[in-house]
Amino acid sequence: MNELSETNLQLRSLVKSSGQLEISVQAVLTQPPKADEVVIRIQASPINPSDLGILLGSLEIDNFRQSDVAGQPQITADISPSILAALTGRHDQSMPVGNEGAGEVIAAGDSEAAQALLGKTVAGMGGGMYCQYRTLNVSQCLVLNEGTTARQGAACFINPLTSLGMVETMKIQGQAALIHTAAASNLGQMLQKICLADGIPLINIVRKPEQGKILREIGATYVCNSRADSFAFDLKKAISETGAYIAFDATGGGELANDILVAMEAAASEHMKTYSRYGSNQHKQVYLYGGLQRSPTILKRNYGMQWSVGGWLLTPFLQRSGADRVAQLRQRVLDELTTTFASNYNREISLSDILSLDTLKEYSQQSTGHKFLVNPSLGN
Ligand SMILES: NC(=O)c1ccc[n+]([C@@H]2O[C@H](COP(=O)([O-])OP(=O)(O)OC[C@H]3O[C@@H](n4cnc5c(N)ncnc54)[C@H](OP(=O)(O)O)[C@@H]3O)[C@@H](O)[C@H]2O)c1
Repeated sequence: MNELSETNLQLRSLVKSSGQLEISVQAVLTQPPKADEVVIRIQASPINPSDLGILLGSLEIDNFRQSDVAGQPQITADISPSILAALTGRHDQSMPVGNEGAGEVIAAGDSEAAQALLGKTVAGMGGGMYCQYRTLNVSQCLVLNEGTTARQGAACFINPLTSLGMVETMKIQGQAALIHTAAASNLGQMLQKICLADGIPLINIVRKPEQGKILREIGATYVCNSRADSFAFDLKKAISETGAYIAFDATGGGELANDILVAMEAAASEHMKTYSRYGSNQHKQVYLYGGLQRSPTILKRNYGMQWSVGGWLLTPFLQRSGADRVAQLRQRVLDELTTTFASNYNREISLSDILSLDTLKEYSQQSTGHKFLVNPSLGN
């Protein structure tokens, strides 16, 4: 623990029951490692959409203000009564932010497993990763292959395992092709590469032609633009060709899930010899696995009765899969970290940069090619 002081800096987000959000960098106690724990000097941690949810409390960014409190920068915002009510579970708790990250192990507990990680570059998932030093159990760490940097390993849990989890879920449900929305995301590009390698037809839905170009350059066959006049026709044609009756929708809100179900039913109806007012016998499944579109989900139910829409989340999927299967998936991620599972970052910022209003406007965009990496070891 020689390089460690008793406290270190951590980014925290607080929703006050009185109706304000406060984001600040605070000195927190550095937890000395127990027998099976290690202390990681965090060097890289991505800002993913799920991190933004905790960080910004689902607020519109035009409401944010930057201020100084006792010489320390802080971001504040007023919270409307309806959003405040939805955030009751986190009222008056200062919450650490950052789901995953990577860095060097600089201290370790007494156990053999912990000592084996000393000096290694590891990735970790444990929450509260936007901090200088994070103490984690060895089971929450993944030792990166020799030569892999913290930047390359920063996002090696959530998006890689989620994209693999989609393919696993598809197979468990007896399907052989799938549909994905917001498909040029970091995660979407991983999914496209997995599907290419594993010979699985994938229909990518994007909303801009340039996103289609990104996907075609990595080998995509099917790309449908949801804003094109021909979208309904293109999607139905792609479903007819691939047999994709399971979809993963990152947008969550609006009519996209509905449009997918309509196109699935149109493709399935081609095989019907007689009309049924209950629709086709083909089961159609859409999983809402993200909330990029905040408006309510609109389902018009004009696709018979054999359909379902549900949520999908990585953690329960991993729990259901069992330790052996998860270990295999993790190993694939490690082996293909700089190819299939490579993430792209637009900028690398320090903890205090997170509190700059101009920077906040950029990293909260959630648009293609705008992912930021937090490096708490940069000057704060
Ligand atoms: N359920 C889970 O367990 C789980 C796990 C991991 C990730 N996720 C979800 O996976 C998604 C992708 O994550 P990521 O880190 O790969 O994202 P990312 O790289 O930051 O990319 C976000 C993508 O979403 C698109 N987008 C943003 N708002 C949109 C909207 N309203 N409608 C349509 N497209 C929109 C952007 O396209 P533009 O350029 O058009 O803005 C961009 O391509 C997120 O929704 C995240 O929450 C869920």
